[in-house]
Amino acid sequence: MINRTALPDRDQWNGIQKRKDDTKLCKKITAIMEIEESGSSVLCYTADVSDFQSMGVIINELVEKYGGINGVIHGAGVAGDGYLIRKPEEVFRQVVLPKINGTWVLDKLTENLKLDFFILFSSISGYTFTPGQGDYTAANAYLDAFAQYRDKKGKRTLSINWPAWKETGMAVDHNALNNESFFKPISTADACKAFEILLDKHIVRVLPSVLNYKIFERGDIKIPFVLSEEIRVDNLIRQKITEPKEAKVILKGKLGNGYSDTEQSLGRLWSLVLGVTEVDVYDNFESLGGDSLLATSLLKEMQKTYGNLVDISDIFTYSSIFDMAEYIESKTNKKKEFEKINEEEDTEEARLNDILDELASGKLSLEEAGGMIELGVVE
Ligand SMILES: NC(=O)c1ccc[n+]([C@@H]2O[C@H](COP(=O)([O-])OP(=O)(O)OC[C@H]3O[C@@H](n4cnc5c(N)ncnc54)[C@H](OP(=O)(O)O)[C@@H]3O)[C@@H](O)[C@H]2O)c1
Repeated sequence: MINRTALPDRDQWNGIQKRKDDTKLCKKITAIMEIEESGSSVLCYTADVSDFQSMGVIINELVEKYGGINGVIHGAGVAGDGYLIRKPEEVFRQVVLPKINGTWVLDKLTENLKLDFFILFSSISGYTFTPGQGDYTAANAYLDAFAQYRDKKGKRTLSINWPAWKETGMAVDHNALNNESFFKPISTADACKAFEILLDKHIVRVLPSVLNYKIFERGDIKIPFVLSEEIRVDNLIRQKITEPKEAKVILKGKLGNGYSDTEQSLGRLWSLVLGVTEVDVYDNFESLGGDSLLATSLLKEMQKTYGNLVDISDIFTYSSIFDMAEYIESKTNKKKEFEKINEEEDTEEARLNDILDELASGKLSLEEAGGMIELGVVE
């Protein structure tokens, strides 16, 4: 473990823990002791990660002692605070150096070693662009870009865009936990679990967090990034759980107010899936933002009402509410006609069987039975 500020000598650790006057230091010492209790050794070095010279000395010493290094976890960082226009250059440098220069130094000094992993602790700042965080955002953006660059060279690299950790670290120290973020803060246990999972995956960049859906639902906040189709659909499904079952929608487009039951039912489903409150029955599904994933979602909803009457290609073929309603109605009418014919055929067959039974039991003569059939009792 390489840190900028030296830890006190080990023989002082018990005394520091008993006094408990420096909570942060106590936590660090406890964490190291717990790791060592599980059978590992933690060597504590002191260096500025952006200092090529002193980092070189430490890395050479480690390689000599252990015959190599298996991986790097780069977590050094300084929180940014304050608008660039008022920020002294020195303060800006303190924020960007550990991440920008530090990453470069670590990569350069380990370039001839066979690392299994090179993990960079980045942040959601590259997605959220919080005012007053220009230096911190730039520093983390470098990590994200560097991860892509290094991984492309065939060297496994991962940049983790952490959301705020809610129990420890710089977000807690700077009182930066808030409910207004797009991403929910993560617990230490969940972060550790995520980290363990990520170690096994070949991903270059990841944001292990839960979206704060309430913020997305508010119409007054501009979202500075684009959500993938999968996440948008997931969001719609969540909204559906909390929304009243009957979404209200205003249909328009036809002269007069005559909208059939099918059109109104389809309008409600479109509103649910596309998030629209008003829709022209002649509008095209795709022109309102409907894509293949949303079509799948619409199909699932339609199947709840219409069963297997419609398939996925129909959603694009009968792409307006008007066309789809017409199609569904024609299919349901045909189905009804078919059922009626079947029903009539069943009744005729039953009557014929009755006449034949009566003929067999002697209740009817051959002439009487023939007459009944000719008279159209059975056609
Ligand atoms: N905690 C969060 O909520 C959160 C969220 C997103 C991303 N991250 C990222 O995760 C990483 C760890 O964050 P944290 O919360 O553990 O932060 P932290 O508690 O403030 O610890 C950061 C550590 O980095 C060290 N450091 C800073 N500049 C250095 C340099 N030039 N050379 C060597 N060490 C240096 C600090 O040393 P000193 O003790 O000398 O200051 C400190 O020990 C950071 O990169 C941060 O950007 C954290």
